[in-house]
Amino acid sequence: MKIHIKTYGCQMNERDSERIRSLLAIRGHIASDTEEGADVLIVNTCSVRAKAEEKAIGKLGLLTAKRRHPHVIVGAVGCMVQRMKDSIFDRVKGLDFALGTGGLSKICDILDRIEAGERRVIDIERHRETADTASAHEKSGLSAFVTVLEGCNRRCSYCIVPEVRGVEVSRPAQEILHEVRTLVAGGVREITLLGQSVLGYGKTTPVWESGHVSPRGFLEPFPRLLEALCEVEGLDRIRFTTSHPSGCTNELAAAISGLAQVCEHVHLPLQSGSDRILKLMNRGYTISEYRDAVGRLRERNSSMSVTTDLIVGFPSESDDEFEMTRRAVKEIGFDNAFVFKYSPRPGTRAEELADDVPSEEKLRRNHALLRDLDVRGTEVNAGLVGTEVEVLVEGPSLRDKRRMSGRTRTNKIVVFAEEEGIGIGSLVRVLVERAMPQTLYGSAVSGSLTRGGAGKTGGGLEL
Ligand code: 5AD
Ligand code: SF4
Repeated sequence: MKIHIKTYGCQMNERDSERIRSLLAIRGHIASDTEEGADVLIVNTCSVRAKAEEKAIGKLGLLTAKRRHPHVIVGAVGCMVQRMKDSIFDRVKGLDFALGTGGLSKICDILDRIEAGERRVIDIERHRETADTASAHEKSGLSAFVTVLEGCNRRCSYCIVPEVRGVEVSRPAQEILHEVRTLVAGGVREITLLGQSVLGYGKTTPVWESGHVSPRGFLEPFPRLLEALCEVEGLDRIRFTTSHPSGCTNELAAAISGLAQVCEHVHLPLQSGSDRILKLMNRGYTISEYRDAVGRLRERNSSMSVTTDLIVGFPSESDDEFEMTRRAVKEIGFDNAFVFKYSPRPGTRAEELADDVPSEEKLRRNHALLRDLDVRGTEVNAGLVGTEVEVLVEGPSLRDKRRMSGRTRTNKIVVFAEEEGIGIGSLVRVLVERAMPQTLYGSAVSGSLTRGGAGKTGGGLEL
Protein backbone atom coordinates (compact mmCIF):
# COMPACT_ATOMS: atom_id res chain seq x y z
CA MET A 1 0.00 0.00 0.00
CA LYS A 2 1.03 3.64 -0.46
CA ILE A 3 1.24 5.48 2.84
CA HIS A 4 1.24 9.22 3.41
CA ILE A 5 1.89 10.75 6.85
CA LYS A 6 1.15 14.37 7.75
CA THR A 7 3.09 15.40 10.86
CA TYR A 8 2.23 18.13 13.39
CA GLY A 9 4.24 19.07 16.46
CA CYS A 10 7.81 18.65 17.57
CA GLN A 11 10.91 16.84 16.35
CA MET A 12 9.91 13.88 18.49
CA ASN A 13 6.85 13.57 16.28
CA GLU A 14 8.92 13.89 13.11
CA ARG A 15 11.06 11.04 14.37
CA ASP A 16 7.95 8.97 15.22
CA SER A 17 6.56 9.51 11.71
CA GLU A 18 9.85 8.38 10.25
CA ARG A 19 9.76 5.30 12.45
CA ILE A 20 6.23 4.47 11.30
CA ARG A 21 7.28 4.82 7.64
CA SER A 22 10.29 2.60 8.15
CA LEU A 23 8.29 -0.10 10.00
CA LEU A 24 5.76 -0.09 7.19
CA ALA A 25 8.53 -0.23 4.57
CA ILE A 26 9.84 -3.44 6.16
CA ARG A 27 6.42 -4.95 5.37
CA GLY A 28 6.68 -3.80 1.76
CA HIS A 29 4.53 -0.69 1.97
CA ILE A 30 5.69 2.44 0.16
CA ALA A 31 5.93 5.94 1.64
CA SER A 32 4.28 8.63 -0.48
CA ASP A 33 5.09 12.35 -0.30
CA THR A 34 1.61 13.30 -1.44
CA GLU A 35 -1.93 12.59 -0.28
CA GLU A 36 -3.06 11.93 -3.83
CA GLY A 37 -3.00 8.27 -4.66
CA ALA A 38 -2.22 7.15 -1.10
CA ASP A 39 -4.08 4.10 0.25
CA VAL A 40 -3.37 4.96 3.89
CA LEU A 41 -3.46 8.53 5.20
CA ILE A 42 -2.04 9.03 8.68
CA VAL A 43 -2.03 12.22 10.74
CA ASN A 44 0.59 12.35 13.51
CA THR A 45 -0.94 14.72 16.04
CA CYS A 46 0.24 17.18 18.70
CA SER A 47 -1.59 18.23 21.89
CA VAL A 48 0.71 20.92 23.19
CA ARG A 49 -1.70 23.78 22.45
CA ALA A 50 -5.40 23.82 21.54
CA LYS A 51 -4.53 25.27 18.12
CA ALA A 52 -2.32 22.31 17.23
CA GLU A 53 -5.21 19.97 18.05
CA GLU A 54 -7.70 21.99 16.02
CA LYS A 55 -5.41 21.83 12.99
CA ALA A 56 -5.09 18.04 13.22
CA ILE A 57 -8.82 17.55 13.73
CA GLY A 58 -9.50 19.79 10.72
CA LYS A 59 -7.05 17.83 8.59
CA LEU A 60 -8.50 14.47 9.65
CA GLY A 61 -12.02 15.77 8.93
CA LEU A 62 -10.95 16.76 5.41
CA LEU A 63 -9.21 13.47 4.75
CA THR A 64 -12.17 11.36 5.86
CA ALA A 65 -14.69 13.53 4.00
CA LYS A 66 -12.89 13.65 0.65
CA ARG A 67 -11.80 10.02 0.65
CA ARG A 68 -11.64 9.28 -3.06
CA HIS A 69 -12.29 5.57 -2.61
CA PRO A 70 -13.86 3.52 0.23
CA HIS A 71 -10.72 1.39 0.47
CA VAL A 72 -8.62 4.39 1.55
CA ILE A 73 -7.73 4.10 5.26
CA VAL A 74 -7.50 7.20 7.48
CA GLY A 75 -5.81 7.01 10.88
CA ALA A 76 -4.66 9.28 13.69
CA VAL A 77 -1.53 8.61 15.73
CA GLY A 78 0.39 10.33 18.52
CA CYS A 79 -0.20 12.71 21.38
CA MET A 80 -3.81 13.71 20.66
CA VAL A 81 -4.94 10.10 20.46
CA GLN A 82 -3.27 9.45 23.79
CA ARG A 83 -5.11 12.39 25.33
CA MET A 84 -8.54 12.02 23.73
CA LYS A 85 -8.70 8.23 23.72
CA ASP A 86 -11.96 6.81 22.21
CA SER A 87 -13.54 10.25 22.02
CA ILE A 88 -11.39 11.01 18.96
CA PHE A 89 -13.83 8.85 16.97
CA ASP A 90 -16.65 11.24 17.97
CA ARG A 91 -14.62 14.25 16.81
CA VAL A 92 -13.60 12.64 13.52
CA LYS A 93 -16.42 10.67 11.96
CA GLY A 94 -15.16 7.98 9.64
CA LEU A 95 -11.75 7.66 11.30
CA ASP A 96 -10.52 4.08 10.84
CA PHE A 97 -7.87 3.82 13.52
CA ALA A 98 -6.23 5.66 16.38
CA LEU A 99 -2.81 4.75 17.75
CA GLY A 100 -1.28 6.37 20.83
CA THR A 101 2.33 7.40 21.47
CA GLY A 102 3.33 4.11 23.10
CA GLY A 103 2.12 1.80 20.36
CA LEU A 104 3.81 2.91 17.16
CA SER A 105 5.51 -0.46 16.83
CA LYS A 106 2.00 -1.93 16.40
CA ILE A 107 1.24 0.02 13.23
CA CYS A 108 1.52 -3.02 10.94
CA ASP A 109 -0.80 -5.11 13.16
CA ILE A 110 -3.34 -2.29 13.12
CA LEU A 111 -3.31 -2.12 9.31
CA ASP A 112 -3.72 -5.92 9.18
CA ARG A 113 -6.80 -5.66 11.40
CA ILE A 114 -8.30 -2.96 9.21
CA GLU A 115 -7.62 -5.02 6.11
CA ALA A 116 -9.43 -7.89 7.82
CA GLY A 117 -12.51 -5.65 8.02
CA GLU A 118 -12.26 -4.14 11.53
CA ARG A 119 -13.01 -0.41 11.89
CA ARG A 120 -12.46 2.15 14.67
CA VAL A 121 -9.44 0.24 15.91
CA ILE A 122 -7.74 1.93 18.88
CA ASP A 123 -4.56 1.13 20.80
CA ILE A 124 -3.36 3.47 23.52
CA GLU A 125 -1.34 0.93 25.52
CA ARG A 126 2.31 1.58 26.27
CA HIS A 127 3.92 -1.38 24.50
CA ARG A 128 7.48 -2.45 25.10
CA GLU A 129 9.74 -1.63 22.21
CA THR A 130 12.39 -4.00 20.91
CA ALA A 131 15.78 -2.64 19.87
CA ASP A 132 14.73 -3.16 16.25
CA THR A 133 11.48 -1.21 16.38
CA ALA A 134 13.03 1.60 18.43
CA SER A 135 15.99 1.97 16.06
CA ALA A 136 14.17 1.73 12.73
CA HIS A 137 15.14 4.49 10.28
CA GLU A 138 14.28 5.22 6.69
CA LYS A 139 17.12 5.32 4.14
CA SER A 140 19.49 7.78 5.69
CA GLY A 141 20.14 11.34 4.61
CA LEU A 142 22.78 13.65 6.00
CA SER A 143 21.11 14.23 9.36
CA ALA A 144 19.06 11.98 11.60
CA PHE A 145 17.06 12.22 14.81
CA VAL A 146 17.90 9.68 17.49
CA THR A 147 15.58 9.36 20.48
CA VAL A 148 17.53 8.79 23.68
CA LEU A 149 14.83 9.53 26.21
CA GLU A 150 11.05 9.16 25.96
CA GLY A 151 8.47 10.83 28.20
CA CYS A 152 8.92 13.41 30.94
CA ASN A 153 8.99 13.33 34.75
CA ARG A 154 8.82 17.08 35.22
CA ARG A 155 5.49 18.51 36.14
CA CYS A 156 5.38 21.91 34.47
CA SER A 157 1.91 23.08 35.37
CA TYR A 158 0.90 24.06 31.80
CA CYS A 159 2.22 21.00 30.03
CA ILE A 160 0.32 18.04 28.61
CA VAL A 161 3.48 16.10 27.66
CA PRO A 162 3.79 13.90 30.78
CA GLU A 163 0.22 12.77 30.21
CA VAL A 164 0.61 12.02 26.51
CA ARG A 165 4.18 10.73 26.49
CA GLY A 166 4.30 9.01 29.88
CA VAL A 167 7.10 8.74 32.44
CA GLU A 168 10.74 9.23 31.50
CA VAL A 169 12.38 6.18 29.98
CA SER A 170 16.03 6.30 28.92
CA ARG A 171 17.08 3.98 26.13
CA PRO A 172 20.11 1.81 26.83
CA ALA A 173 23.36 3.45 25.74
CA GLN A 174 24.44 0.33 23.81
CA GLU A 175 21.27 0.42 21.77
CA ILE A 176 21.74 4.12 20.96
CA LEU A 177 25.37 3.56 19.97
CA HIS A 178 24.42 0.72 17.70
CA GLU A 179 21.73 2.85 16.07
CA VAL A 180 24.17 5.71 15.49
CA ARG A 181 26.88 3.43 14.05
CA THR A 182 24.34 2.01 11.61
CA LEU A 183 23.20 5.49 10.61
CA VAL A 184 26.76 6.71 10.04
CA ALA A 185 27.55 3.61 7.96
CA GLY A 186 24.58 4.65 5.79
CA GLY A 187 25.91 8.18 5.19
CA VAL A 188 24.62 10.19 8.18
CA ARG A 189 27.06 12.92 9.32
CA GLU A 190 24.97 14.73 11.93
CA ILE A 191 22.66 13.42 14.63
CA THR A 192 20.24 15.22 16.92
CA LEU A 193 19.63 13.42 20.19
CA LEU A 194 16.00 13.80 21.21
CA GLY A 195 14.29 13.79 24.56
CA GLN A 196 11.73 16.02 26.28
CA SER A 197 14.39 16.68 28.89
CA VAL A 198 17.41 15.23 27.15
CA LEU A 199 20.02 16.23 29.74
CA GLY A 200 18.22 13.98 32.24
CA TYR A 201 19.30 10.98 30.17
CA GLY A 202 20.41 8.05 32.29
CA LYS A 203 18.87 9.25 35.52
CA THR A 204 15.63 7.38 35.27
CA THR A 205 14.42 3.83 35.52
CA PRO A 206 12.69 1.78 34.28
CA VAL A 207 14.77 1.18 31.21
CA TRP A 208 13.74 -0.95 28.32
CA GLU A 209 16.52 -3.06 27.02
CA SER A 210 14.96 -4.94 24.18
CA GLY A 211 11.94 -5.69 26.26
CA HIS A 212 13.62 -6.10 29.67
CA VAL A 213 14.01 -3.70 32.52
CA SER A 214 17.76 -3.34 32.76
CA PRO A 215 19.76 -2.66 35.92
CA ARG A 216 20.26 0.99 36.78
CA GLY A 217 24.03 0.73 36.55
CA PHE A 218 23.75 0.12 32.83
CA LEU A 219 22.97 3.73 32.17
CA GLU A 220 25.37 6.57 31.52
CA PRO A 221 24.83 10.21 32.44
CA PHE A 222 24.31 12.47 29.41
CA PRO A 223 27.89 13.84 29.11
CA ARG A 224 29.20 10.24 29.14
CA LEU A 225 26.77 9.34 26.38
CA LEU A 226 28.14 12.25 24.34
CA GLU A 227 31.67 11.00 24.92
CA ALA A 228 30.78 7.52 23.76
CA LEU A 229 29.05 8.83 20.64
CA CYS A 230 32.10 10.90 19.71
CA GLU A 231 33.99 7.66 19.19
CA VAL A 232 31.78 6.74 16.26
CA GLU A 233 34.04 7.33 13.30
CA GLY A 234 32.58 9.42 10.48
CA LEU A 235 30.13 11.32 12.66
CA ASP A 236 30.78 15.08 12.31
CA ARG A 237 28.18 16.69 14.49
CA ILE A 238 26.11 15.88 17.53
CA ARG A 239 23.19 18.08 18.54
CA PHE A 240 20.68 17.56 21.32
CA THR A 241 17.31 18.95 22.33
CA THR A 242 15.44 19.90 24.58
CA SER A 243 17.45 20.97 27.63
CA HIS A 244 16.58 22.09 31.17
CA PRO A 245 18.82 24.39 33.25
CA SER A 246 19.27 21.71 35.93
CA GLY A 247 21.26 19.66 33.41
CA CYS A 248 23.57 22.54 32.43
CA THR A 249 26.36 21.39 34.71
CA ASN A 250 30.11 21.99 34.50
CA GLU A 251 30.41 18.43 33.14
CA LEU A 252 28.06 19.30 30.27
CA ALA A 253 29.91 22.57 29.59
CA ALA A 254 33.20 20.62 29.56
CA ALA A 255 31.77 18.00 27.21
CA ILE A 256 30.61 20.67 24.76
CA SER A 257 33.98 22.41 24.76
CA GLY A 258 36.10 19.26 24.88
CA LEU A 259 34.35 17.08 22.33
CA ALA A 260 34.88 18.30 18.79
CA GLN A 261 31.69 16.78 17.39
CA VAL A 262 29.33 18.26 19.99
CA CYS A 263 27.86 21.48 18.61
CA GLU A 264 27.89 24.72 20.60
CA HIS A 265 24.14 25.11 20.68
CA VAL A 266 21.64 24.54 23.43
CA HIS A 267 17.87 24.91 23.22
CA LEU A 268 17.01 25.92 26.76
CA PRO A 269 13.36 26.91 27.31
CA LEU A 270 13.10 29.86 29.71
CA GLN A 271 9.29 30.27 29.48
CA SER A 272 9.17 33.39 31.67
CA GLY A 273 11.45 36.03 33.19
CA SER A 274 9.39 36.40 36.38
CA ASP A 275 10.19 34.24 39.41
CA ARG A 276 6.55 34.30 40.51
CA ILE A 277 5.36 32.99 37.13
CA LEU A 278 8.20 30.44 36.95
CA LYS A 279 7.05 29.14 40.32
CA LEU A 280 3.42 28.94 39.17
CA MET A 281 4.69 27.08 36.12
CA ASN A 282 6.60 24.71 38.42
CA ARG A 283 9.70 25.06 36.27
CA GLY A 284 12.08 24.25 39.11
CA TYR A 285 14.44 27.25 38.68
CA THR A 286 14.56 30.96 39.34
CA ILE A 287 15.64 33.48 36.74
CA SER A 288 18.99 33.82 38.51
CA GLU A 289 19.54 30.02 38.41
CA TYR A 290 18.70 30.07 34.71
CA ARG A 291 21.25 32.84 34.15
CA ASP A 292 23.89 30.83 36.05
CA ALA A 293 23.17 27.79 33.88
CA VAL A 294 23.72 29.81 30.69
CA GLY A 295 26.81 31.39 32.29
CA ARG A 296 28.37 27.97 32.95
CA LEU A 297 27.93 26.97 29.31
CA ARG A 298 29.20 30.28 27.92
CA GLU A 299 32.19 30.43 30.26
CA ARG A 300 33.77 27.43 28.52
CA ASN A 301 32.28 27.99 25.07
CA SER A 302 32.64 31.52 23.77
CA SER A 303 30.62 30.86 20.61
CA MET A 304 27.78 29.09 22.45
CA SER A 305 24.41 29.74 20.84
CA VAL A 306 21.39 29.69 23.15
CA THR A 307 17.82 29.48 21.88
CA THR A 308 14.68 29.30 23.95
CA ASP A 309 10.90 28.90 24.27
CA LEU A 310 8.74 31.57 25.89
CA ILE A 311 5.09 31.52 26.94
CA VAL A 312 3.15 34.79 27.07
CA GLY A 313 -0.12 35.31 28.89
CA PHE A 314 0.25 32.58 31.50
CA PRO A 315 -2.61 32.90 34.06
CA SER A 316 -2.25 36.08 36.14
CA GLU A 317 0.86 37.31 34.23
CA SER A 318 0.85 41.07 34.80
CA ASP A 319 2.24 43.64 32.42
CA ASP A 320 5.18 44.16 34.78
CA GLU A 321 5.90 40.45 34.80
CA PHE A 322 5.78 40.37 31.03
CA GLU A 323 8.27 43.27 30.98
CA MET A 324 10.54 41.13 33.21
CA THR A 325 10.48 38.47 30.48
CA ARG A 326 11.39 41.12 27.89
CA ARG A 327 14.27 42.33 30.04
CA ALA A 328 15.51 38.79 30.71
CA VAL A 329 15.39 38.00 26.99
CA LYS A 330 17.41 41.11 26.16
CA GLU A 331 19.90 40.59 28.93
CA ILE A 332 20.52 36.85 28.31
CA GLY A 333 20.79 37.48 24.59
CA PHE A 334 19.19 34.57 22.81
CA ASP A 335 20.12 33.66 19.27
CA ASN A 336 16.52 32.78 18.55
CA ALA A 337 13.30 31.85 20.32
CA PHE A 338 9.85 30.40 19.85
CA VAL A 339 7.10 32.45 21.48
CA PHE A 340 3.79 30.81 22.39
CA LYS A 341 0.52 32.21 23.65
CA TYR A 342 -0.58 30.30 26.73
CA SER A 343 -3.21 27.69 25.94
CA PRO A 344 -4.98 25.87 28.82
CA ARG A 345 -4.64 22.10 28.51
CA PRO A 346 -7.21 19.73 29.99
CA GLY A 347 -6.10 17.96 33.16
CA THR A 348 -2.98 20.10 33.75
CA ARG A 349 -2.52 21.97 37.02
CA ALA A 350 -2.56 25.34 35.31
CA GLU A 351 -6.00 24.58 33.91
CA GLU A 352 -7.34 25.23 37.39
CA LEU A 353 -6.04 28.81 37.21
CA ALA A 354 -8.19 31.39 35.43
CA ASP A 355 -6.98 31.98 31.86
CA ASP A 356 -7.33 35.69 32.58
CA VAL A 357 -4.98 37.40 30.11
CA PRO A 358 -7.24 38.46 27.21
CA SER A 359 -6.29 36.99 23.84
CA GLU A 360 -5.57 40.46 22.31
CA GLU A 361 -3.14 41.07 25.15
CA LYS A 362 -1.46 37.69 24.59
CA LEU A 363 -1.09 38.66 20.94
CA ARG A 364 0.39 42.06 21.84
CA ARG A 365 2.95 40.44 24.17
CA ASN A 366 3.74 37.85 21.54
CA HIS A 367 4.45 40.53 18.91
CA ALA A 368 6.48 42.66 21.30
CA LEU A 369 8.79 39.71 22.09
CA LEU A 370 9.11 38.73 18.45
CA ARG A 371 10.19 42.29 17.60
CA ASP A 372 12.81 42.26 20.38
CA LEU A 373 14.08 38.89 19.19
CA ASP A 374 14.35 40.10 15.64
CA VAL A 375 16.47 43.06 16.71
CA ARG A 376 18.71 40.78 18.74
CA GLY A 377 18.90 38.17 15.93
CA THR A 378 20.01 40.87 13.52
CA GLU A 379 22.71 42.02 15.96
CA VAL A 380 24.01 38.50 16.63
CA ASN A 381 24.21 37.70 12.94
CA ALA A 382 25.72 41.10 12.06
CA GLY A 383 28.46 40.30 14.58
CA LEU A 384 29.37 37.27 12.48
CA VAL A 385 30.10 39.30 9.33
CA GLY A 386 33.81 39.03 8.59
CA THR A 387 34.23 35.79 10.55
CA GLU A 388 34.59 32.24 9.23
CA VAL A 389 32.04 29.60 10.16
CA GLU A 390 32.09 25.84 9.62
CA VAL A 391 29.24 24.72 7.36
CA LEU A 392 27.87 21.23 6.78
CA VAL A 393 26.49 21.48 3.24
CA GLU A 394 22.88 20.34 2.83
CA GLY A 395 22.30 21.07 -0.87
CA PRO A 396 21.26 23.83 -3.26
CA SER A 397 19.65 26.86 -1.62
CA LEU A 398 15.84 26.71 -1.77
CA ARG A 399 15.58 30.31 -3.01
CA ASP A 400 18.42 30.25 -5.51
CA LYS A 401 19.41 26.89 -6.92
CA ARG A 402 22.74 28.30 -8.14
CA ARG A 403 23.86 28.73 -4.56
CA MET A 404 24.51 26.15 -1.85
CA SER A 405 23.08 26.07 1.62
CA GLY A 406 24.07 24.48 4.90
CA ARG A 407 24.20 25.07 8.62
CA THR A 408 26.79 26.31 11.08
CA ARG A 409 27.57 24.37 14.25
CA THR A 410 25.25 26.82 16.00
CA ASN A 411 22.44 25.82 13.61
CA LYS A 412 22.32 29.01 11.56
CA ILE A 413 21.52 28.74 7.86
CA VAL A 414 24.34 29.84 5.54
CA VAL A 415 23.94 30.44 1.81
CA PHE A 416 27.07 30.69 -0.32
CA ALA A 417 28.22 30.59 -3.95
CA GLU A 418 28.45 27.18 -5.59
CA GLU A 419 32.00 25.90 -6.03
CA GLU A 420 33.77 23.04 -7.68
CA GLY A 421 34.14 20.06 -5.35
CA ILE A 422 31.66 21.24 -2.75
CA GLY A 423 28.53 19.09 -2.53
CA ILE A 424 26.03 17.62 -0.11
CA GLY A 425 27.85 16.39 2.99
CA SER A 426 30.90 18.62 2.48
CA LEU A 427 32.35 20.30 5.53
CA VAL A 428 33.64 23.69 4.49
CA ARG A 429 34.56 27.03 6.04
CA VAL A 430 32.57 30.00 4.81
CA LEU A 431 33.51 33.66 5.19
CA VAL A 432 30.35 35.52 6.25
CA GLU A 433 29.87 38.61 4.08
CA ARG A 434 26.29 39.62 4.78
CA ALA A 435 23.77 38.84 7.51
CA MET A 436 19.96 38.75 7.66
CA PRO A 437 18.05 37.96 10.88
CA GLN A 438 17.58 34.29 9.87
CA THR A 439 20.28 33.68 7.26
CA LEU A 440 23.99 34.34 6.71
CA TYR A 441 25.48 34.86 3.22
CA GLY A 442 29.09 34.39 2.20
CA SER A 443 31.62 32.50 0.15
CA ALA A 444 33.64 29.36 0.75
CA VAL A 445 37.18 29.94 1.96
CA SER A 446 39.45 28.43 -0.67
CA GLY A 447 41.27 25.31 0.45
CA SER A 448 39.04 24.97 3.54
CA LEU A 449 37.17 21.87 2.40
CA THR A 450 37.90 19.32 5.15
CA ARG A 451 35.80 16.65 3.53
CA GLY A 452 34.35 16.49 0.05
CA GLY A 453 30.67 15.95 -0.51
CA ALA A 454 28.58 13.80 -2.77
CA GLY A 455 27.87 16.33 -5.51
CA LYS A 456 25.10 18.85 -5.74
CA THR A 457 22.29 16.33 -5.93
CA GLY A 458 23.62 13.87 -3.44
CA GLY A 459 25.55 11.51 -5.71
CA GLY A 460 26.31 8.34 -3.78
CA LEU A 461 24.54 9.51 -0.65
CA GLU A 462 20.97 8.31 -0.23
CA LEU A 463 19.19 11.56 0.47
N1 5AD B 1 0.47 26.77 26.16
C1 5AD B 1 1.39 27.44 25.42
N2 5AD B 1 2.61 26.97 25.17
C2 5AD B 1 2.95 25.77 25.67
N3 5AD B 1 4.08 25.06 25.60
C3 5AD B 1 3.90 23.90 26.25
N4 5AD B 1 2.67 23.85 26.78
C4 5AD B 1 2.05 25.00 26.45
C5 5AD B 1 0.77 25.55 26.70
N5 5AD B 1 -0.13 24.90 27.44
C6 5AD B 1 5.29 25.53 24.90
C7 5AD B 1 6.48 25.62 25.85
C8 5AD B 1 7.31 24.46 25.44
C9 5AD B 1 7.01 24.37 23.96
C10 5AD B 1 7.34 23.06 23.33
O1 5AD B 1 5.63 24.62 23.90
O2 5AD B 1 7.13 26.85 25.60
O3 5AD B 1 8.68 24.65 25.70
FE1 SF4 C 1 5.65 16.92 20.68
FE2 SF4 C 1 4.50 17.71 22.92
FE3 SF4 C 1 3.26 18.08 20.63
FE4 SF4 C 1 3.51 15.65 21.63
S1 SF4 C 1 2.38 17.31 22.55
S2 SF4 C 1 3.90 16.27 19.53
S3 SF4 C 1 5.49 15.75 22.61
S4 SF4 C 1 5.15 19.04 21.24
